[in-house]
Amino acid sequence: MNLLIMGPPGAGKGSQAVIIKERYNIPHISTGAMFREAIKAKTKTGLLAKEYIDKGELVPDSVTIELVRERLQADDTKNGFLLDGFPRTIAQAQALDQILSEVGKKIDKVINLVVDEEILVIRISGRRVCKTCGETYHIVNKKPKVEEICDVCGGELIQRADDNVATVSNRIKVYYEKTRPLLNYYDDKGILINIDGSGEIEETFRYVEKIMEDANDLT
Ligand code: AP5
Ligand code: MG
Repeated sequence: MNLLIMGPPGAGKGSQAVIIKERYNIPHISTGAMFREAIKAKTKTGLLAKEYIDKGELVPDSVTIELVRERLQADDTKNGFLLDGFPRTIAQAQALDQILSEVGKKIDKVINLVVDEEILVIRISGRRVCKTCGETYHIVNKKPKVEEICDVCGGELIQRADDNVATVSNRIKVYYEKTRPLLNYYDDKGILINIDGSGEIEETFRYVEKIMEDANDLT
């Protein structure tokens, strides 16, 4: 199954994606994570992306689309994939449809996490990520076993560079302006499913599971 997970910054896309990837054995493709890797490796794309990400702006469509086009050519996407944080503009959504149609594929389902703004801010401000492996934690909702240390690899937990108050408010603003209109784009195609993402991580995943079961019943 070819899936998209959508929702505003901090809605829990990455947290759900990690579980979906494990359970359904499909690759999790996060453009945000790909950009962070590129920034860490100081590549040309990384240096360019950093200028936008640090301000909470979107990286230009041309750069982002090429990144995804290349990633979707990898063998591990043959039996399905989960895109997280892409597309974020109508132009990206149209490009994605084009990229997929060239190889006879399409997006099957779009899972949209609905979460109120106050919750988003609490989630983002409490998020900590492992500097080494990228595992995500929260200072209240998903604590590491040892404070400031990653359970998975023992790495140091830090705040994401774009998780500061000024950048977060711009990320949310940009989401409403540029990305939210995409929900209509997918609703018109009849593949959008809105789920309540305000409960606990496991509770939200139960809604995801239901979507996957219903989709299997149809095949
Ligand atoms: P990206 O990395 O995609 O960030 P985002 O969309 O702002 O979303 P987040 O990763 O902040 O939140 P999330 O929904 O994944 O939440 P998470 O699961 O971590 O993009 C970053 C930047 O890259 C963009 O601003 C842009 O500049 C650029 N970019 C990326 N893609 C692009 C594109 N396509 N085009 C152009 N530019 C692009 O959860 C958040 C916290 O809450 C965690 O601490 C978690 O533990 C906790 N939590 C999660 N779920 C729950 C729950 N149910 N209950 C309690 N706590 C929870
Ligand atoms: Mg994320």
